Amino acid sequence: MNMLDAEFVKGFMRTAEDGWLQGWHERNGGNLSYRVKPEEVESVREELSPGEWRPIGAAVPRLAGEYFLVTGSGKYFRNVTIKPEDSFCLIELDGEGENYRICWGLVNGGRPTSELPTHLMNHEVKLAAAGGKHRVIYHAHPANIIALTFALPPTSEAFTRELWEMATECPVVFPDGIGVVPWMVPGGREIAVATSELMKEYDVAVWAHHGLFCSGEDFDLTFGLMHTVEKSAEILVKLRSMQPYKRQTIRPDDFRDLAKDFKVELPERYLYEKND
Ligand code: 13P
Ligand code: ZN
Repeated sequence: MNMLDAEFVKGFMRTAEDGWLQGWHERNGGNLSYRVKPEEVESVREELSPGEWRPIGAAVPRLAGEYFLVTGSGKYFRNVTIKPEDSFCLIELDGEGENYRICWGLVNGGRPTSELPTHLMNHEVKLAAAGGKHRVIYHAHPANIIALTFALPPTSEAFTRELWEMATECPVVFPDGIGVVPWMVPGGREIAVATSELMKEYDVAVWAHHGLFCSGEDFDLTFGLMHTVEKSAEILVKLRSMQPYKRQTIRPDDFRDLAKDFKVELPERYLYEKND
């Protein structure tokens, strides 16, 4: 089958396009990866021509031999549907999970995203933590969540509780809360270790003054998670632009009632007493 006709590739391209349309991907901002199923790899096998092995920059032994679709470093989400062969690639990992090779795409040269260590370390954590169901890791630069990293304490407690309060669906969509990585230099192993540590507990990790990482089972769920978090952040930014306080809000006991009806577990550490 032609790569661009495969459903998993179409889903990848649509997600990138949707992110672009949301305004989350200025220039080359953001990156996307998908852990490809074995039968999907087989369906496009004749399209693949493996190149040279190159170091990942991190060791991910549990992902040995896996294939990933991943956006290219310096490539624009704007162009993913316009020139797909130039904008992303399919990579294969070696038997140690230390090297990758490009099997399709990036026809004009280049390499996978500079955040490949974070993507792969997150995939590795999710393979263990989420029963192997998660396949998508998505990084974007949504303006409202980034704005909040200058205004809220950089803690999981503050981000989770404030965003839960801004839209009733939030505790149901991300009941485990949100992790926060303090500002760090992007693109390396150190930020990958910090992020993947948080991904053991959360499906969402904020990068202070930079953006957001989301993990999910498929493109819809992962995009929907990013969208829900950012929309909630937008409501909080709007509220704070009107007035510094909330006249009324959702209270801890309201969350407890919601948890019962929607059959989610909301950790008590987010349901602390506060004045607004
Ligand atoms: P890449 O172009 O290397 O994917 O980098 C974009 C980005 O958002 C880095 O955090
Ligand atoms: Zn980024």
